[in-house]
Amino acid sequence: MSSKTLPRHDVKDLSLAQHGRLRIEWAATQMPVLRIIRERFARERPLEGLRVGACLHVTTETANLMLTLQAGGAEVALCASNPLSTQDDVAAALVAEYGLSTFAMKGEANETYYRHIGEVLATRPEVTLDDGADLVSTLHRDASGLIDAVIGGAEETTTGVIRLRSMEQNGVLRYPIVAVNEAATKHFFDNRYGTGQSTLDGIIRATNLLLAGSTFVVAGYGWCGRGIAMRARGLGANVIVTEVDPVRALEALMDGYRVMPSARAAAEADVFVTATGDLNVIDLPQLTAMKDGAILANSGHFNDEINIPVLESLAVEKRTVRDFVVEYRLADGRRVYLLADGRLVNLSAAEGHPAGVMDMSFANQALCVEYIRKNAHALEPKVYVVPPEIDREVARLKLQAMGVEIDQLTDEQRKYLASWESGT
Ligand SMILES: NC(=O)c1ccc[n+]([C@@H]2O[C@H](COP(=O)([O-])OP(=O)(O)OC[C@H]3O[C@@H](n4cnc5c(N)ncnc54)[C@H](O)[C@@H]3O)[C@@H](O)[C@H]2O)c1
Repeated sequence: MSSKTLPRHDVKDLSLAQHGRLRIEWAATQMPVLRIIRERFARERPLEGLRVGACLHVTTETANLMLTLQAGGAEVALCASNPLSTQDDVAAALVAEYGLSTFAMKGEANETYYRHIGEVLATRPEVTLDDGADLVSTLHRDASGLIDAVIGGAEETTTGVIRLRSMEQNGVLRYPIVAVNEAATKHFFDNRYGTGQSTLDGIIRATNLLLAGSTFVVAGYGWCGRGIAMRARGLGANVIVTEVDPVRALEALMDGYRVMPSARAAAEADVFVTATGDLNVIDLPQLTAMKDGAILANSGHFNDEINIPVLESLAVEKRTVRDFVVEYRLADGRRVYLLADGRLVNLSAAEGHPAGVMDMSFANQALCVEYIRKNAHALEPKVYVVPPEIDREVARLKLQAMGVEIDQLTDEQRKYLASWESGT
C-alpha cells in the first residue's frame, strides 16, 4: 500500500508491518471459527458501510477480528485498550498492509492513550467495541454529542461489564451494549484457559523463574483466577488462593488449594498474582509481610490491584533489572519485584491469550456486531447478554473445527427431558 493511500493512523514504526503481517497470518491459522465467519461476511457483506470504533488490545488476534469486520463491509478504526498491550508490528501491519485506521503504541503515556481514543471517536462510530469500557465511558463523558449516531456496542471483559452495568443502573447509559464476556463460549474459555496459560507465560518470560516447588499465591478465584491457579499447579507450584467470597473460597479449597487471608499468604509467596477486578488487593499489610525476593504481578484489567503508590513510598531504591521487572528495595533491605508496572502481565510481558481461545471470544464479537446491526431498533439502552443461539453456534463451530463430534438427543430422550410425569 503506498503511503498516499494509508488511512489515518498513529503507530510506532511502519517498517514493522511485514513482520506483523506474518504474525497476524500465523494467528489466523489458529482461528478457524473466525475464518468461517470471515468467509461468510465476505460473501454476504452484512456490515456494509457500518462505522465501527474499537478499543481493544492491539494483538494478532484482534487484527483478525478487525479484518473479519472489514470483510463484512465495515469501516473500522482501532485504538488500544491498555497502554502496554499493543504489539507495534501488528499496529503497523493493520495500517500499511490492510489499510485499517489504527492508533496505538506500546508504552504510550496516558495522555496519548486518551488522544488515541479521541481519534477513534472522531470517526463517528455507529458501533463501539470495548475491552474495559474506556471508549464508551469517554464517549459518554467527553463526546456525548456523538452518541446519537451510535446504534450499539459490545464489551469484551468482566471489568467493562461491571462498569457498564453501573452506567445502566445510574441511568446514564445511552445505547445498548452486548456483554460478550457473559457468553459461556467467552468467559469459560478465554478467562480461564486463556488467562491461565498466558499469565504464566508472561511471568515466565519476564523472570525465567522455575515454578516447580515455588509458593504461588492467586488473589481471586473467579474465571481468571481458577485458570491461573490450575496452570501454576500444573507446573509444580504450591498454590494458595485468597478470596473474599465464601463460595469461591470453598470451591478453591475443595479444588485442593490452600486458602487463607492475603496478608498471611503474602508471607509465604514467591509469586503473588492478582486477578480480581478489585482495588488495592496487594496493599500495605501484604507488602509489609512479603518475603525478600517476592514477585508481584497482576492479570486483572486495571493496574490498581497492586497499590503501587504505597509500594513506591516504602521503597528506598528502585531499578529495572530485566524487561518488565522493576526491583523495589525496601527500607529493611527486602526486595520486591513488580512485573509490567502492575498492568495485565499476560498482555504486557507476553502476547496475551493464545489465538486458539481468542477464536471463540472474537467469533462472539463478530456475530454480536452483526446482531446489533440487525436488531438495534429493538434494543434499549441496557446491557444485554449474548443471545444463546450465538453462544451455541460458536461452540458448535469450534468443535467442528477441532474435529470433535458429540452425541445428539434421541426423540425419546428429548421427550423424557421435557416431561414432568415420569418419576420413580
Ligand atoms: N488478563 C486478561 O487477559 C484478562 C482476561 C479476562 C478478564 N480479565 C480481567 O480479570 C479480572 C477478573 O476477571 P474474572 O472474569 O476472573 O472475574 P470474576 O468476577 O469471575 O472473579 C473475580 C474474583 O475476585 C474475587 N475478589 C474480589 N475482590 C477480592 C479481594 N480483595 N481479594 C481476593 N479476591 C477478591 C471475587 O470474589 C471473585 O471471585 C477482571 O478485571 C477482568 O476484566 C483479564
